[in-house]
Amino acid sequence: MTSSLAKIEDFPSDPVEFFKEILQEAAKGHPDGFMQEMNLATVDEEFGVLNRTVLYRGLTQDNCVFYITHRYVRNFKNLQANPKACITFYMPDVKDKAGIQNSWQVRLIGATAVELPQSETDALWAKENLAAQIRGHICPCGEPINYDDLKARHDQFLEDHRGKPIEKPASYTAWKFQPQRWDFLKVGLDQIADRVQYRLQKDGKWESMHVST
Ligand SMILES: Cc1cc2nc3c(=O)[nH]c(=O)nc-3n(C[C@H](O)[C@H](O)[C@H](O)COP(=O)(O)O)c2cc1C
Repeated sequence: MTSSLAKIEDFPSDPVEFFKEILQEAAKGHPDGFMQEMNLATVDEEFGVLNRTVLYRGLTQDNCVFYITHRYVRNFKNLQANPKACITFYMPDVKDKAGIQNSWQVRLIGATAVELPQSETDALWAKENLAAQIRGHICPCGEPINYDDLKARHDQFLEDHRGKPIEKPASYTAWKFQPQRWDFLKVGLDQIADRVQYRLQKDGKWESMHVST
């Protein structure tokens, strides 16, 4: 048996740059295509807190993490009622410079959600795959459904739109997140994790420090 301490070294002063570096390394293990999920927790009137997996879609022009959703789903309604959120990324296979495998967790703590203007979602809609575009038109998220009914609706929609562009539904939208803290945790096999936390200061600058795991 063995034990050691993980150490996060040479981290940039800007947390978004750090996040990008880690994502880039995580993507190297998937040359044929890489999708990064994130866990989004929101305040929910009925359940107190509610979390779910959503797809990380990248960074906005002002360097905020964003994701895409529909106005009829609960996560949208939650964020509209209370924009406070927490996001967790888990990247289990990130090689360091020596080629050693590490797991990373990146958390956006005390994040405030801001909805992107509809004008910015046009380009995103155009890039959605066909299934996502059809889902945007036919799925009553969270409501009980009958598979055969939904399949009939799907097949009809597909038939009616073959070879034609599918219009962006009014429900299609995206949220970006402005966190108060970024928390980076790194751990390898038989190691005690190290964490680096960036805390937003009153002057808008990030203060970074190692924190105990
Ligand atoms: C891999 C994966 C990616 C997902 N991506 C999204 C997404 O980008 N946006 C979204 O609204 N739901 C996404 N979902 C579905 C959500 O997890 C969730 O089931 C749905 O949004 C309804 O959840 P809610 O009622 O808590 O809002 C994804 C699910 C999985 C498994």
